[in-house]
Amino acid sequence: MINRLIATALPLLPKRFVWLFSRAYIAGESVNDAMTACRSLNANGIKTTIDILGEFIQNLDEAKKNRDEYMALIDISQLSGIDGNYSVKPTMFGLLIDTEACFGYIREIVSKAAGYGNFIRIDMEDSGCVDLELDLFRRLKAEFPENVGLVVQAYLHRTLDDLKGLMDLHTPALPLNFRLCKGIYTEPAHIAFQRHDEINVHFLEDLEFMFQNGVYPGIATHDRALVDGALRLIDRYDVPRNRYEFQMLYGVAPELRRTIVEAGHTMRVYVPYGRHWFGYSTRRLKENPKIVTSIIKSLLLSR
Ligand code: FDA
Repeated sequence: MINRLIATALPLLPKRFVWLFSRAYIAGESVNDAMTACRSLNANGIKTTIDILGEFIQNLDEAKKNRDEYMALIDISQLSGIDGNYSVKPTMFGLLIDTEACFGYIREIVSKAAGYGNFIRIDMEDSGCVDLELDLFRRLKAEFPENVGLVVQAYLHRTLDDLKGLMDLHTPALPLNFRLCKGIYTEPAHIAFQRHDEINVHFLEDLEFMFQNGVYPGIATHDRALVDGALRLIDRYDVPRNRYEFQMLYGVAPELRRTIVEAGHTMRVYVPYGRHWFGYSTRRLKENPKIVTSIIKSLLLSR
C-alpha cells in the first residue's frame, strides 16, 4: 500500500531522484550506453532488441528526428557487431497524428534494417492503437516478409481472433514472428482481462496457437508460472530450439533469465535507452510498486 502511494507520488519528484530507480532498467541516455549494455548481454550469450525511448509525440517534426535517430542507431549497432534487432513504438512516429507519414517513417527504418538482413519489431501500444498497428504490420510484412514482426498482448479479449486473422500472412518458409506479452497499459474490463490468472490462461492459449501453427513466438515474460507453462508447451509440441525465443526487459528478473539461458534456450533482452527515460520509468514503477522498497534500501545503503 505504502509502496503504491510512493510509486504514484514519484513522478512528481525531481528527475534526479527517479533516476536512482531508473538506472537499473535503462541502458543510459546515449547510443554508446546502449552499445555497452548490448555488448555485455551478448558476452553472456543473450541477444538484444534495442528501443529508443519516446512515444505519443505531439508533432511530426519529432517523428522525423526519431526516424533519424533510429537510422543512425541501426548503422552504429550493425557496425559494432551487436547480436540483436530493434523495437519501435509507432506513436513515436506520429501514428495518431498522420498514419501515412508514420507508415513512411517506419517503412524507411524497416528497409534500413532489411539492408543488413536484420529485423524490426513493432511494439503494441494501448487499445486505441491496435487496429492501426495491425494494419501497419500487414503492409510492412507484405513488402519485407523476413524483416518485421509484431507484439500481441494476452490481456486483450481480441488477441486470439487477431492471431487467427493474421494467418493469411503466414507460410512455413516465411513464418509470422510475434512477441507475446501480457500487455502493460491500463485497459477497461470490456476490452482486457483484468485478473492475473485469467491473463495467464490466455497467454498460454495464444502461445499454444502459435506452436500449433508454426508461428515463431518471442515469449516475453518474467512470470515464472508462464515460463514453466511455455516450457511444457515446448515439450508437448516438440518445438525445436530455433523455433522460439524467450524475451525479458533490461534489468528485470536476472535470476530467472539466467536459469533459462543456462538451460540452452534463446534469450533476448529489450534494451531501452534515450533522453525520454522519465515516462518509461514511471510506468515501470506503477507496474511494480514493490521496486520502491529496493530504491529505499539502495538510498540508505548509499549514505
Ligand atoms: P508479471 O507482471 O506477473 O510479473 C512477474 C514478475 O516479474 C513480477 O512479480 C516482478 O517481480 C517482475 N517484473 C515484471 N515486470 C517488471 C518490471 N517492469 N520491473 C520490475 N520487475 C518486474 N507490453 C505492451 O503492452 N506492449 C509491448 O510492446 C511490450 N513489449 C515488451 C517487451 C518485452 C521483451 C517484455 C518482457 C515485456 C513487454 N511488454 C510490453 C510488457 C508486458 O506486457 C508486461 O507488462 C510485463 O512484461 C510484465 O508482465 P510479466 O509477464 O513479466 O508478468
